[in-house]
Amino acid sequence: MARIIVVTGGKGGVGKTTVAAALAACLAKKGERTIVCDADFGLNNIDVTLGVEKQVAYEIADIVEGKCRAKQALVPHPKIPNLFVLCSKRSDLQRYVSAQQIKAVLESLSQEFDYIFIDSPAGIDEGFHRAVAPASEAIVVTAPHISAVRDADKAVTILKSYELSKVSLVVNGCRGELILSGEELSPDQIASVLKLPLLGIVPYEYSLSVSDFSVPHKSIRLLAESLKTGKEKLYDPTRQYSGFFGSIKRALKRSL
Ligand SMILES: Nc1ncnc2c1ncn2[C@@H]1O[C@H](COP(=O)(O)OP(=O)(O)OP(=O)(O)O)[C@@H](O)[C@H]1O
Ligand SMILES: [Mg+2]
Repeated sequence: MARIIVVTGGKGGVGKTTVAAALAACLAKKGERTIVCDADFGLNNIDVTLGVEKQVAYEIADIVEGKCRAKQALVPHPKIPNLFVLCSKRSDLQRYVSAQQIKAVLESLSQEFDYIFIDSPAGIDEGFHRAVAPASEAIVVTAPHISAVRDADKAVTILKSYELSKVSLVVNGCRGELILSGEELSPDQIASVLKLPLLGIVPYEYSLSVSDFSVPHKSIRLLAESLKTGKEKLYDPTRQYSGFFGSIKRALKRSL
């Protein structure tokens, strides 16, 4: 039976899709049979993020309408065995898909998979509900900015009304040099404000914004391990800026 995990967060652009795609790809590379399901019906982009957009033949609405079987709609990733993408798009507003319908589709697939990640849209309205209701666990993604943390807090409050066995936090886009200079909230501070266990820390890294995730970043490898084992192993974004050479690196970054 797959663990069905929604990746959500409230605020737009904090990295929900990036974290869902990277984490799913990393687990798949470790041999876990994994699906990433796009529940962002308005601005769906998991297919583009994972580079499979040209292979998409069916989407969730087609399964719900009986035009294909659930397994037929899964797009296998060309480079990563065990990784499948279930797409959504709202080309036609009449083709409404409910939370219950998504849940039924995912449950029908769950026997043959280890992980199903649901990529949630931004916001805390109906799209949020549609993404969260089918899940049994949640990962809240936030950026280390006050506005993102405030929106994440609202999302966390609403998540309490769902029957989720686990809700944990990933802080994405951390900048070690800013954490050390006190200009950015540290992941620990954010976790304590949100009262969530910290599952992962992902740095701001250009490679993460352009990758197809076939080579997992160290922070994502640690996140995948934490999720799998339940024992947190956290990436330290400040490490390269600590010590003598680190302070030179920090000074150089400042002068740029
Ligand atoms: N750790 C990171 N380092 C660098 N760039 C990142 C990182 N995480 C995300 N990005 C970039 O930030 C942008 C927004 O990321 P993403 O689409 O994952 O956010 P989102 O929360 O899913 O947004 P939305 O709310 O619109 O669905 C993308 O261009 C992505 O490549
Ligand atoms: Mg997204």
